[in-house]
Amino acid sequence: MKKKILVLNGPNLNMLGRRQPEIYGTRGLDDIIEVLRETFPDTDIEHIQSNCEGFLIDALHACADNGTDGVVLNAGAYTHTSLALADAIAAIAPLPVIEVHLSNIFAREEIRRHSLIAPVCAGSISGFGERSYRLAVRALQDML
Ligand code: DQA
Repeated sequence: MKKKILVLNGPNLNMLGRRQPEIYGTRGLDDIIEVLRETFPDTDIEHIQSNCEGFLIDALHACADNGTDGVVLNAGAYTHTSLALADAIAAIAPLPVIEVHLSNIFAREEIRRHSLIAPVCAGSISGFGERSYRLAVRALQDML
């Protein structure tokens, strides 16, 4: 049976392509997801983007009961601020959640160098542009 992976994108990622392209690239989120689905035809890739913290938390909780096998999460700026998101990831353990970032958060401003969600994620991938998503799906496939 196909593995089901949720790609969950947080705030401002709906603006990819237009948003600071020198940092985040020129490809829009829809295109990134389309390429991801083309790259992994044997995986059922669901996609949700929301700018609302509570919606992201609800989406993570739903994964505990809806047959999702793993989550690729770009939490955007909530990465650096949201204990609630970290708690939600811990709450759905042992479901694996991989943290991803397009930019290398460790090469950026001090506040972005710390992730509140990293300790409760299975692993983190940062700095490979849109490839970060592909690497995360590969990592999940390897784990599942
Ligand atoms: C980001 C990095 C975050 O610091 C930032 O707030 C984002 C995008 C990334 O993918 O590089 O919104 O998660």
